[in-house]
Amino acid sequence: MSTKESFCLAVFALLLVSSFGVKDPELKQCKHQCKVQQQFDEKQREACVRRCEEYSRQKQEREHGGGGRGSYGEEDQYWNRESPIERLRECVKGCETQRGQQRERCQSSCQKEYEKERERYEGNERQEEEGEEKQQHEENPYVFKDHHFVTGPQTQHGRVRILQKFTDRSKKLFRGIENYRLAIYEADPLTFVVPNHWDAEALVFVAKGKGTVSLVTKDRRESFNIKEGDILRIKAGTTAYLINSDQNERLVLANLMQPVSTPGNFEAFYGAGGENPESFYRVFSNEILEATFNVRRDRIEKLFGQQRQGAILKVSREQIQGMSHHEEGGIWPFGGGESKGTFNIYEQHPTHANQFGQLYEVDSSHLRSLRDLDVAVTLTNITSGAMTALYYNSRATKICVVKDGAGFYEMACPHMMSLQSQTHHEGSSQREQPGSRRESSDTPRYQKISSRLKLGTVVVVPAGHPFVAVASNNQNLQLMCFLVHANDNEKHALAGKRNVINKLEREAKELAFGVPEREVDQVFRSQEEEFFFKGPRQQHRGFSDM
Ligand code: CU
Repeated sequence: MSTKESFCLAVFALLLVSSFGVKDPELKQCKHQCKVQQQFDEKQREACVRRCEEYSRQKQEREHGGGGRGSYGEEDQYWNRESPIERLRECVKGCETQRGQQRERCQSSCQKEYEKERERYEGNERQEEEGEEKQQHEENPYVFKDHHFVTGPQTQHGRVRILQKFTDRSKKLFRGIENYRLAIYEADPLTFVVPNHWDAEALVFVAKGKGTVSLVTKDRRESFNIKEGDILRIKAGTTAYLINSDQNERLVLANLMQPVSTPGNFEAFYGAGGENPESFYRVFSNEILEATFNVRRDRIEKLFGQQRQGAILKVSREQIQGMSHHEEGGIWPFGGGESKGTFNIYEQHPTHANQFGQLYEVDSSHLRSLRDLDVAVTLTNITSGAMTALYYNSRATKICVVKDGAGFYEMACPHMMSLQSQTHHEGSSQREQPGSRRESSDTPRYQKISSRLKLGTVVVVPAGHPFVAVASNNQNLQLMCFLVHANDNEKHALAGKRNVINKLEREAKELAFGVPEREVDQVFRSQEEEFFFKGPRQQHRGFSDM
């Protein structure tokens, strides 16, 4: 069989698997999302599941017919681009620029890579399914994966994904960040996100792509060209709209939302719109609207009855040019004319940098107005095979999104032990062993919290919790983090140059460790790097897909 034939065969087999639902991970994912929607009652859940099945059926028909994409918009999503089939598609697309034999060779190597990946992927999926029930009880509450997101407005050209409320995951652990929400915006090349406002303060980080954001307040409209690494504040109630002006690249924004009306909940309000997105003008009574606009009812009905294409629309290059008359960059919308242009995290000097990684930080010392929000933004780039120092934040709780690459993290947490022992008490049959510790009177016990990190994974690291992140051996790990309660926060290193223990006097070291100072120093003074270190020689065995 020629390479070409075997390639076609692989693609065909792959279409069979994905289109006949032998295993449709998207359908599974979609149904799962229905089940975890807190605000749904049983009927709404059932309707949601039916919609998933209908999407799946339509998708099968389309794909069987030779084209089209699923309506979940899951495949090909930036945060999700990791299934073997998706990578195969990407890979094959990349071959299109080549000709003749070179193209065939390229396709053949795509296929080989795909087969290797598929084996691994299916193995992982099986393991995941087997462990699913167990995980529901033992799941790491600090890690949020794809199924912890609720999908907000979505069309075939993009979507908004909102992470579940932190306190819905654990009231105990996350009360301190109850009033913060994470939202991920994804817009396809050449698209327009229609104007709307939120009842929330928003801090926007451009994770990928470029475009233009327009903000309307009272009698001003300001437009900002945005690119990867830009940070932008959108004040609550500001009417905002967005263009992805790039022809090829998806625009991805990570937004930290701070609701101003209902703690932990925010909503989008669309004025310009019609049926979909539904315009809020439509709910007012006709008499009111006639009087408000001073025009006849039929005109109003016509205007608000047209739009049915949803909140994210495909646009032409001409339309984009028409909306791009502003100058490059604008005035940083933090008020007070603090700095010209949008603020880019990559243009700052890294706080820490060596061959093992770089840390970029933007806090209120760079931008005074971040103090109002009590938020900071960091970007950590860990070189493949390297790691961060073991450290903790004094006041801030970090909400991190894996922006690129893969790796894992470990954290020490005193809360999990007490949560588990409570569950045991409530679960009746488990008796406390004689001589075992009592929660209230003893010193704390710590549990290792760890998880694999991959594109799109969200991790919360509370203040005071010692933490380390490690990049995989073949990719850099990039973490984009919002720090909540960031004012006057300090990072305290627990290893490496300038670690906390090295600052203790001899007596304190000897008393605390119960060994001579020399032995303490042998351990705490050996690592000469600061903040980024060479990683563990053997990567974590528990995470086989690194
Ligand atoms: Cu904890």
